[in-house]
Amino acid sequence: MQLSARVSALRPSTTLAVNAKAKALQAQGVSVLSFAAGEPDFDTPARIKQALIDALNRGETKYCAVPGDMATRKVIAEKLTRENALPNVTADHVVISSGGKQSLYQVFQALLEPGAEVILPTPAWVSYPPQIELAGGKVVEVVTTAASGFKMTPGQLRGAVTPRSRALVINSPSNPCGTMYAPDELRAIARVVADIPDLVVISDELYEKIVFGGIPHFSIGSVPEIAERVVTVNGLSKAYAMTGWRIGYCSGSGAFGLQLSKALQTLQSQSTTSIATFELPAVRVALTECADDVERMRQAFARRAEITYSLVSKIPGLVCPRPTGAFYIFPDVSAHFGKVSANGTVIASAADFAAALLDEQRVAVVPGEDFGSGGEKCVRFTFACGDEQIKEGLSRLGAFVASLH
Ligand SMILES: Cc1ncc(COP(=O)(O)O)c(C=O)c1O
Repeated sequence: MQLSARVSALRPSTTLAVNAKAKALQAQGVSVLSFAAGEPDFDTPARIKQALIDALNRGETKYCAVPGDMATRKVIAEKLTRENALPNVTADHVVISSGGKQSLYQVFQALLEPGAEVILPTPAWVSYPPQIELAGGKVVEVVTTAASGFKMTPGQLRGAVTPRSRALVINSPSNPCGTMYAPDELRAIARVVADIPDLVVISDELYEKIVFGGIPHFSIGSVPEIAERVVTVNGLSKAYAMTGWRIGYCSGSGAFGLQLSKALQTLQSQSTTSIATFELPAVRVALTECADDVERMRQAFARRAEITYSLVSKIPGLVCPRPTGAFYIFPDVSAHFGKVSANGTVIASAADFAAALLDEQRVAVVPGEDFGSGGEKCVRFTFACGDEQIKEGLSRLGAFVASLH
């Protein structure tokens, strides 16, 4: 069978591949500690589940409007106005989709012409490049390092701009880096954006609620000078422990936001139509009644971030900034490249490091190569799991590093 060149060129995600290998080993009865998946270990709060059950029992099982019903979009618009200070956002600006992933996919489809350049600070989430390329765009990486907290400077952004620049992706807090921009850093980036006509900012704020480093979350879409060029993408997966529900949304401001919303609705109407109708009341409950659940989980992530950082810092040769948001730590392990593991594997890359760690210590982490330039020296370790698992996993990681010679 002849597959399309478009699909044949797609790279499968190593994040999922590592997870699959860890699960296969677990299925064989091998005790693997997995730190590979990007999802909270918590269950969805009970009242959110109950809202969905009630909706099903009321018979809310028919098609609904493509971007979601008016009541839910209104709640989201109010949230974006109140919490994120986005100007000129109404229910008509909001499009609800099957996960932040679908929102982002559609935004790239709606904005990019063939050859359009998208500036992407890396290391970055694995799905941006394939999504950009599927839309005909070209990724322009801006490489960041552990030393700068994996943050792009305004000067780096200026240096990456060309006449073909169409969009900039900002992901704060960041997957995989676990760091976030301070409000002033984003304002400085916004000043550069303001000078580049037509550059759109795609601000992925999926981890907005999972912050613990004393840096307040800031939405770049709230900067008045560029507000009508920012698309803010968010979702319920991470903050509300709802990864399997597949609920995301996005919004732009003012006339730009309305135009984008119409385009996204047309696009979505030809693929998934909408999210499941009976999920919509649960979205409203999550966004209006569950601040205490979000806070409970945030505190757990804050504690785990501290445990993780203090234990990783004690392992010789591992270098990383203190995590300030999301639930990842992304240590540079390149000090160990060139060494040999107990089983005789030569560690020449992050992929070798992760593979040998899984084989020899039964610990699954994601090698950094997939996250783009700057990631190839690092591995991603997720601390969205219990404290005891974190301690045991990092003790095994320490033993693995000690075994390298
Ligand atoms: C940075 C980032 N953006 C977007 C997503 C998409 O999340 P979802 O589709 O579950 O909303 C993820 C999920 O891992 C992510 O890490």
